[in-house]
Amino acid sequence: MVRICHISDIHVSSRYFQPELMERLIKDVNDAAPDLLVLSGDLTERGLAFEYEQARRWTDRFGVPLLVTPGNHDSRNVGYVHFEEMYGSRYSVVRLPGVHIVAADSSEPDLDEGRIGRSIYPWLHEALDAAEPGDLKVFVTHHHLLPVPGAGRERNILQDAGDLLKVLVDHGVELVLNGHKHVPWVWRFEEMLIVNAGTATTNRLRGKGRPSYAALQLSRESITVRHKYYDGSEDRLHHPLKRRTPA
Ligand SMILES: [Fe+2]
Ligand SMILES: [Fe+2]
Repeated sequence: MVRICHISDIHVSSRYFQPELMERLIKDVNDAAPDLLVLSGDLTERGLAFEYEQARRWTDRFGVPLLVTPGNHDSRNVGYVHFEEMYGSRYSVVRLPGVHIVAADSSEPDLDEGRIGRSIYPWLHEALDAAEPGDLKVFVTHHHLLPVPGAGRERNILQDAGDLLKVLVDHGVELVLNGHKHVPWVWRFEEMLIVNAGTATTNRLRGKGRPSYAALQLSRESITVRHKYYDGSEDRLHHPLKRRTPA
């Protein structure tokens, strides 16, 4: 069993940022001690150096391994330079026991729209091919691959979402982790679970949305997703896996 915490859209320097929620989040994550914390972008508001410094001060307080991918806000004002300096590559592969995780930057400088981009696909194929037989495959990127209900007018879906979905399905990816819309949601697509994390620490919310983060349990047989809210309530989804590749 592997446990992953998935947070997104913390926007530490925006006027919507709620420091008390960040304090609570840090406590919750450190208490839960997952095998990995995934932060799927929009750490900042405008991608400026001082915002990254703030973000880093907060994220340094997580006492668990961290995988971070940038969001559209983080690539504003050439912010991806600071991202690389503070968090490393925008493209990464992380291995946990029986779980192979590939993360890719979907942001474009100064654009809200996302795209993985054709030049990245050879790397993506190689990164997914590097999984061990029987591994559960996970893909992380900021922008959403499918429309999310309760998110208002659809925009900024990945421009190459169709191509990307096909690559992920062809490689037998079982789990996708996205952010961006600030709306927690899960879609089942083919055999794949697509999880959108809400905003973990802001009140930039649509309708009656609430800040939240996701706690996931991954095993060979199933994935369980819990969208957790700060009043202690949660939305839970249990997804049995049909394994395609024998372990
Ligand atoms: Fe955001
Ligand atoms: Fe975003």
